[in-house]
Amino acid sequence: MRMVDLIHKKRQGHSFTTDELRYIIQGYTCGDIPDYQMAAWLMAVYFQGMTDEEIADLTTVMVESGDTIDLSGIRGIKVDKHSTGGVGDKISLIVAPLVATVGVPVAKMSGRGLGHTGGTIDKLEAIEGFQAELSNEQFIEHVNTYKMAIAGQTGNLAPADKKLYALRDVTATVDSMPLIASSIMSKKIASGADCIVLDVKMGAGAFMKSLADARRLANTMVKIGQRLNRKTIAIISDMNQPLGCEVGNANEVKEAIEVLRGNGPEDLQVISLTIAAHMTVLGGIYKTFADALHNLTTILQSGSAFHTFRQFIQAQGGNPDLADNPERLPQAANHIDITAWKTGYIQQIDAEAVGTAAMMAGAGRQKKGDAIDPAAGITLLKKSGDPVAKGERMAVIHTNKKTAEEALQRLQDAYVITEQPPQIQPYIHEIVC
Ligand code: URA
Repeated sequence: MRMVDLIHKKRQGHSFTTDELRYIIQGYTCGDIPDYQMAAWLMAVYFQGMTDEEIADLTTVMVESGDTIDLSGIRGIKVDKHSTGGVGDKISLIVAPLVATVGVPVAKMSGRGLGHTGGTIDKLEAIEGFQAELSNEQFIEHVNTYKMAIAGQTGNLAPADKKLYALRDVTATVDSMPLIASSIMSKKIASGADCIVLDVKMGAGAFMKSLADARRLANTMVKIGQRLNRKTIAIISDMNQPLGCEVGNANEVKEAIEVLRGNGPEDLQVISLTIAAHMTVLGGIYKTFADALHNLTTILQSGSAFHTFRQFIQAQGGNPDLADNPERLPQAANHIDITAWKTGYIQQIDAEAVGTAAMMAGAGRQKKGDAIDPAAGITLLKKSGDPVAKGERMAVIHTNKKTAEEALQRLQDAYVITEQPPQIQPYIHEIVC
């Protein structure tokens, strides 16, 4: 087989056999296939798509590209959660300690920022000392002792995805349904959970812009999970505007802590509680979704999930004082206001533009291997539906860069102000199971 022929085959819109996909994924993982050929292949997949059969095969060969984690050493039903990527998406930081508090063991492998979206590991690393690299033994021990652990995609777990993820990020091939489905499901299958709850984001700030595309991604991933004997549920949640009010890294940790202390924005509470309720039903803690939702709401408001979070941070080397005093997390030197140019209502805040502006301010990577600035980010003071008066502050950019002209322009353009209040989108559109 020759990679050039396989690139040509997909460019012409044909389907691959399992052996061809294995050749591509194994060849790229071991370095025989160079980045430039893989980038061309990714772009061909981006434009031509893949059949359900190809996506399932691609997922399986990506799992086979490395080790799988045996979580049988962890007591209880292991339930994992994964988001397809959003802006201001700090849901994992809330859900993991919440479900761990009621006894569901959470062994979570998380990723770094991708494109305009943030990553849980980048956010956690805003906490001084936090260690996302755990050996398999440490990972299992932490989950047994503290009921939760969140680790980066270390070692040899789905190494094909690790390389592909970084290449897609810099070749404009992230928002492709087959590539997202195989990326997420290969990691989830390799990391050994018994059940999986997927948060498929839909809207302007998500990789899937329409409900039809989000539904197709959700259905594809649920089918892959079921085929591989993992109980899988997907929720389709709204990402037309960023989640919560903070976009970045340290500032998102701070906002997640507010929610864990029983406060914080309503969208974060509703989506976190919904995902946590599904996870705890799958984990056998509650019999019905309604029962789970009721109990978890009380627990979230009591602040007890915050104590689980604090313990988890300390166990993974993070400074627990920063959880107690999140205002001491890294702060940027410069704060630039965006003000309203007219009086009216916020009709829309383009989440992708906000994510890109945050990246330009230093919160994300422009190219593979870039360092991120944990203090950089954006605070949204106004969200969709809010009234605003001319000259009023709508958002603030936090940056350590000397100039932030480009980020400022992006953020300004993200806001649409109209005379009439807009129709508000539901936080959750559908459940797919
Ligand atoms: N999250 C992933 O893990 N992979 C993707 O491709 C997109 C979001």
